[in-house]
Amino acid sequence: MSSFVASSSKLCRFRASSPASTIGSRHPRSVARALSSHAYSPTPSPSQTRAGPSTATSTSTSTATATATAISSPSDIEAVTTTPNFTDAEKELVDSIIRVDQAGELGANWIYRGQKWAMDLKGDKVTSKQVEEMWENERHHLTTLAHLQTQHRARPTLLYPLWQAMAFGLGASTGLMGKEAAMACTEAVETVIGEHYDDQLRAIEPLLSPKDGSTPHPSIPLMANILREFRDDELEHLDTAVEEGAQKAPGHSLLSAVIGFGCKAAIKVCEKV
Ligand SMILES: [Fe+2]
Ligand SMILES: [Fe+2]
Repeated sequence: MSSFVASSSKLCRFRASSPASTIGSRHPRSVARALSSHAYSPTPSPSQTRAGPSTATSTSTSTATATATAISSPSDIEAVTTTPNFTDAEKELVDSIIRVDQAGELGANWIYRGQKWAMDLKGDKVTSKQVEEMWENERHHLTTLAHLQTQHRARPTLLYPLWQAMAFGLGASTGLMGKEAAMACTEAVETVIGEHYDDQLRAIEPLLSPKDGSTPHPSIPLMANILREFRDDELEHLDTAVEEGAQKAPGHSLLSAVIGFGCKAAIKVCEKV
């Protein structure tokens, strides 16, 4: 089997042994664990929902961060409004991470949109529902990345429309090929993204533990927690794809290699553009 399959299997095993992945095996885990990303868009409690829409529907960063402070967050780190004191290199690193991840989450949303369109067209309601569940995670990821991008004033990718079109095309075409091909697409994408989130976590380690012994700005450990959370979500999608027959797709090795290469190329482009 291809090295890609070995890689995705390794990621599956990694997730299985990860401390963050001990709560169940499918989507309920995402609900049960504390979500650092809710520091930006907290899930309102029933009483807060009854209080009116003002706390749940704001989109500006200042309002969102103030809301995060006002509402008890499941995370032990809250979003803040102060400015980190980054060097130019640190700022460039953080901007690059946010730009790539925002573009990646945009792509994931449009891949799932394309797959759901194809599944609905084919009348495959079961797979359509599975795709919808994973898409729901991606919506949350994209919303959180938008808050991060605004808070850190990171420049978004200039190629937004291109990624949208390419991702929808990828999702729709693999969806039209069949359920297994759609799942192979998800397996390939999530393998690359899971590894990439790990690379980013390694890259920001120096910001989490400054050499001078100073305390990192709260936005950095919060960002690290969000990267871990999203990595685990992506690896959960990877698990789902494998369980649902990704590796039975016709031409699986070739499909995986091509999609994986495309994802890595897109990451490289987004780091700069
Ligand atoms: Fe995602
Ligand atoms: Fe995902």
